[in-house]
Amino acid sequence: MKHLVFIASVLMFAGISCIHPNTSKQHEGYAEGYPTGYLQWHKLGGLIKRGMEFRRLYANNMAFQRTGKEFPVGTVLVKEELSIIPRKVGERPGSAFRLSVMRKVGQMKSSQQGWSFEAYDPNTKKKISADKLDTSGCYLCHIQQAANDMVFSRIK
Ligand code: HEC
Repeated sequence: MKHLVFIASVLMFAGISCIHPNTSKQHEGYAEGYPTGYLQWHKLGGLIKRGMEFRRLYANNMAFQRTGKEFPVGTVLVKEELSIIPRKVGERPGSAFRLSVMRKVGQMKSSQQGWSFEAYDPNTKKKISADKLDTSGCYLCHIQQAANDMVFSRIK
């Protein structure tokens, strides 16, 4: 019984940690560049399969500091895109081939509702250049979620 209570409190703590995010460095995210440490950030939901890829979504602490409709400057959201590896039965996610990143930079720096849409190669950690990936497409799809500040996920 003591054991069970212990496990329950550990689970509760794990749940609460996303409502009251801790402030350790790895959770903070970065103002620009590759989103180092994103694997330690908050996971938004589970594994998603879309077309030819699997996806996992992550958010830094700042994303949880929203008071009104808009996410605060400093919010970083990551869509990790992974290859699909077939198995005898079903399939599993392989390695990440792209990180699609939304970074709230503010209305002064971006006319896309204050967001910067960026894509990174996880192998080189470099930004994927505009001639290889046109990030205006990101905005055009995400605008469907204009009522939720361009974000598909529901972050409370
Ligand atoms: C055709 C529509 C479409 C395009 C184009 C698109 N996205 Fe998304 N994005 C989505 C959807 C839908 C989700 C929610 C996850 C899911 O259901 O697959 C999402 C999720 C995300 C998230 C996690 C936050 C959220 O909104 O839930 C980030 C970050 C993101 N996308 C960045 C980008 C970037 C950067 C690009 C361009 C390189 C891009 N997206 C292009 C549809 C799109």
